[in-house]
Amino acid sequence: MDFFEQNIDRRNTASVKWERTKEVFKTEQDVLPMWVADMDFRPPEAVTTALQERVEHGIFGYTFIGDNVSKAICSWMRKRHGWTVEKEWIQYSPGVVPSIGKIIQALTDPGDKILVQSPVYPPFFSMIKSNDRVVENCPLVKSDHQYDIDFNAFEQSLKNGVKLFLLCHPHNPTGRVWKEDELRKMAELCVAHDVVIVSDEIHSDLILKPHKHIPIASLSDEIGEQTITLVAPSKTFNLAGLQSSAIISSNNSFRKKITSIDQQQGAFTLNAFGIIAMEAAYLHGEEWLEELLTYLEGNIATVKNYLVEHIPSLSLVEPEATYLLWIDCRKLGLSDAKINHLFVEEGKVGFNPGPSFGKGGEGFVRMNVACPRATVEEGLKRMKKALKSSNE
Ligand SMILES: Cc1ncc(COP(=O)(O)O)c(C=O)c1O
Repeated sequence: MDFFEQNIDRRNTASVKWERTKEVFKTEQDVLPMWVADMDFRPPEAVTTALQERVEHGIFGYTFIGDNVSKAICSWMRKRHGWTVEKEWIQYSPGVVPSIGKIIQALTDPGDKILVQSPVYPPFFSMIKSNDRVVENCPLVKSDHQYDIDFNAFEQSLKNGVKLFLLCHPHNPTGRVWKEDELRKMAELCVAHDVVIVSDEIHSDLILKPHKHIPIASLSDEIGEQTITLVAPSKTFNLAGLQSSAIISSNNSFRKKITSIDQQQGAFTLNAFGIIAMEAAYLHGEEWLEELLTYLEGNIATVKNYLVEHIPSLSLVEPEATYLLWIDCRKLGLSDAKINHLFVEEGKVGFNPGPSFGKGGEGFVRMNVACPRATVEEGLKRMKKALKSSNE
């Protein structure tokens, strides 16, 4: 476990998480960053070694994405998720957010409605709006323990003329891993109403026990033809700065439309280092990932136990996936501005504020625990201190 316990200083690496806190949290405080979704861990050694070898070679001319990369992705999808992907189904993009942008442009028109399920990853909203499309929101419903889909409202939304459904699977920030019956129901409704499913599965390798990720496109050939799946090694192996991701669809017509956007933008390949890291991670990263998941489970248990024991006014929504914890602060009876102020100014700890995830995010914060256990413990102490000062 020593590997994940290493405390590595990320300052002076242009790290968004560590070096943008003053601007993001509008503070002069030195805030402990537990927000943006990357990890304070080094990736699998095989990735670093592959990158080092490439640097050693020393010539960085034009590169292409070879079949070897697609084969590594196909093999990973088969092994980890039981999903058979043909290599011809794969296209590339520097990131899942850029993929969402180009798919919106390829498959919808300005003014079209796009369905999302809030609270959800904020760029889902901004990508729709900045492309002059319209957000159709069908918020998730929170029960005592988890978030669910209101299927009547979901179908009603589809009937309102929705063109495309942006599914977050697993769901950030609620941590839900959608079950087969839920996926099937959503997919069948989308097929019936001819709505394209864009399934953002960037967190699909970060599944906590005993849950299982089922790619929605794998449910049937018909559902596969209706779906575009977005995956990346960036969350799984902590490679976000290398900007490489994949777009997978069996639907030839979708792929052609996406290619024509790439052609318009002259976007034909990825950064040489991103390509190398993606292949190495998918080929050699499995053992590292298993160790990571065990470590993250320990961090999540640490938070859960600490809240029960020391801060019972906060409660954790039990995550089924990811290292992003969705924490219910509503019992505090404070406004979101006040919650944010307390954590940042009194506790000196930075979380993503719930309202940034849209309707249903009010009164929550999202805490990133992909860091050494000692950092998690420090964050928890700071939370306790922040809330203690609210009672004084
Ligand atoms: C659901 C989801 N999609 C996409 C992204 C970002 O993807 P990328 O960095 O590949 O654009 C994130 C990052 O937090 C995310 O949580």
